Amino acid sequence: MRKTKGIILAGGKATRLYPITKVVCKQLLPVFDKPMIYYPLSVLLLADIRDILIIVNPDDLPLFKALLGDGSALGLTIEYAVQPVPAGVAQAFLIGEAFIGRDNVCLILGDNVFYGHGLQAILQSAKDRAGASVFAYTVRDPERYGVVTFDTDGVVSKIEEKPDMPESSWAVTGLYFFDNDVVGFAKKVRPSLRGELEITDVLKCYLDEGRLNVFPFGRGYAWLDTGTYESLVDAAVFIKTIEDRQGFKIGCIEEISFQKGWISKEQVLAIAQGYKTSYADYLRKIAGGAIG
Ligand code: DAU
Repeated sequence: MRKTKGIILAGGKATRLYPITKVVCKQLLPVFDKPMIYYPLSVLLLADIRDILIIVNPDDLPLFKALLGDGSALGLTIEYAVQPVPAGVAQAFLIGEAFIGRDNVCLILGDNVFYGHGLQAILQSAKDRAGASVFAYTVRDPERYGVVTFDTDGVVSKIEEKPDMPESSWAVTGLYFFDNDVVGFAKKVRPSLRGELEITDVLKCYLDEGRLNVFPFGRGYAWLDTGTYESLVDAAVFIKTIEDRQGFKIGCIEEISFQKGWISKEQVLAIAQGYKTSYADYLRKIAGGAIG
């Protein structure tokens, strides 16, 4: 079976968060107690993906490198690439072509937060499926997203980007698993009316060949948006509420790496040493075996 590499797309203009994101990168904004990018990064780790490319705006490159470095502190290999202008989600496969090489790839948007029981298992099964696998989630405002429609047998029949009249409430989340054909499909896609290389057009190529798998996330999952003032606060409150109640952190990348055996107790403690916050206290508990 081919290896799966990961790409986090963390560019874009984030104009819906202006003036906050006029000079500050959205994917580095806090979502309660950690930078936003920790959440999508943690999803890749849960899927056992350790070779990661982070695609960023040119000005933000030094910031991401300062935060995550080459990934070795987390037992990962992290590379970076620049997206000169945000020309669409599917451009990630053109920018990432050399990184992907002959492997499979998982793309996650740098502003997507996922939470739910059994997430790790569903990620693993999506990773092992041939073709492309995406996740659908019921939302009240599907017109803002890619939307999938199912036929009476529950098989996906249609996928549309931001339809005016959505035929279902199933939005496609910003997490996608692809075989190596994705690079060739991305090269064929032409810019949409809004001038972007649409991920939905890449997914249509797989649908046309009968190779698009859609995994529905049920009501027990949370897929949170962080693109507006309101949704950013909602996500932070959600994370705080669950973390306060349970004493477990959501999206703690050091915890996942440690539990998978990719970093040692000493490495976790070294990271904790650098912080004087409850995040550091949590890392010490993990290293001491009090959590896990
Ligand atoms: O969030 C899921 C949705 O993401 C899907 O349902 C849609 O099918 C997909 O097209 C995308 O929707 P949006 O058009 O709303 O994506 P947006 O432009 O908000 O970009 C998503 C993230 O990717 C955002 O954090 C910025 C980043 N991005 C976006 C573009 C277009 C880039 O880094 N580079 C880009 O060129």
